[in-house]
Amino acid sequence: MAQALPIRALAARVLLSVENGQSLNQCLPPALNQLAPEQRPQLQALCYGSCRWFHRLDGELHHRLNKPLRKSDRVVHHLMLVALFQLRFSEQATYAVLNETVEACRALSKPHLTGLVNGVLRAAEREGAPELEAISSRFSHPDWMVEKLRHNWPDDWQAILAANNLQAPMTLRVNALRFDRDQYLKLLDEAGIGAKATRFARHGIQLEQPVPVDRLPWFDDGAVSVQDEAAQLCTQLLDLQAGQRVLDACAAPGGKTCAILEACNGLAEVVAIDESAERLPRVQENLDRLDLHATLTEADAADTASWWNGERFDRILLDVPCSATGVIRRHPDIKLLRRESDIVPLAGIQLGLLQAMWEILQPGGRLVYATCSVFPQENHRIIQRFLKQQDTATLVPISADWGRDMTTGRQLLPDPDSHDGFFYAVLEKPRT
Ligand SMILES: C[S@@+](CC[C@H](N)C(=O)[O-])C[C@H]1O[C@@H](n2cnc3c(N)ncnc32)[C@H](O)[C@@H]1O
Repeated sequence: MAQALPIRALAARVLLSVENGQSLNQCLPPALNQLAPEQRPQLQALCYGSCRWFHRLDGELHHRLNKPLRKSDRVVHHLMLVALFQLRFSEQATYAVLNETVEACRALSKPHLTGLVNGVLRAAEREGAPELEAISSRFSHPDWMVEKLRHNWPDDWQAILAANNLQAPMTLRVNALRFDRDQYLKLLDEAGIGAKATRFARHGIQLEQPVPVDRLPWFDDGAVSVQDEAAQLCTQLLDLQAGQRVLDACAAPGGKTCAILEACNGLAEVVAIDESAERLPRVQENLDRLDLHATLTEADAADTASWWNGERFDRILLDVPCSATGVIRRHPDIKLLRRESDIVPLAGIQLGLLQAMWEILQPGGRLVYATCSVFPQENHRIIQRFLKQQDTATLVPISADWGRDMTTGRQLLPDPDSHDGFFYAVLEKPRT
């Protein structure tokens, strides 16, 4: 096997791939596979941390460089960002960061830049972090996102940005078919894992510290799944009853499909659809581990002619593709990947999916619309637009002790101590 690159060099390459449009979920696993298992958490932490603080670190690097590096040397720019991340946000000894970053520069076949790297990092260490004026550096988010959040949430935007820059807690959903929550909390306690019940989700448990899933009691046997508290709330809104036919229209990787099956024994059928051939197998993996069953179909849910057999659904969960701006703390690469110009086309897809799903909902049935976005354009405004077109649809008010009432739905903003940002709306079709 060829000698693996040093960890920092791998991290720089991953960051470059993210800048070029790949998600961490796509480009990190192949890099992790080049390392021994005990080194993988370090690479993961470097990549997530450097994305989380990318805009701040990039601001500092621009301030320190007289001129940008040539395009062909761009990976060295990212290598310096990784080193700055370590200098500013980790406990790593400075001399190790400097020496090993210079080594990584050589390993990336850029020996002509070792002097520059060394000089920039020494100055960074000597001078400390500069005060930067630019909005993107101050909040470590792209300008457009800061501006949009400021416009959408005049009283909350700074809290949202601050929450986005934190690491999210690890939250579990106890499989109610196997354990009740108190029993499982006891098992965690016996295993020496600190945890507490979530406030809003009935089967949720939040861990004090993230742990590898293989340390969780009975994980392989389907006792629990990893799922944010806000995502778990979907089952409480669906009002599931035995005998119902349920559609999960955008299902992969299947977190909510499994939550639905665990929440109600005796559903007639759960159909899980996703258009991504790459992601759909993840639904099956999750079902298998939990010993649950659903009918899986790879299709564009909106193109009902291609997959629907004509039998209407009593319940539909529509967890639409969205900007994912409510889950930035779990996916900090979103700051680099998402563009402002993505939002209008996404809103078009969301409304189109909602219109198509409405057609296949049983009269008297219920549809829950969900996103992990904090932009009203993808959330309560989609519901407003839909209700204008569909005057027979009934909006069911969500009375809950979580989130805030947006009239046409309920919005959760990311909470530094618990759940992600999420949006839910509940619609019912009259029986006619
Ligand atoms: C927010 S994710 C769903 C997360 C999932 N509900 C869960 O809880 O694990 C959105 C999913 O929608 C899928 N998707 C996007 N457009 C779709 C379409 N037109 N039809 C079906 N699935 C679609 C994407 O592949 C993605 O897996």
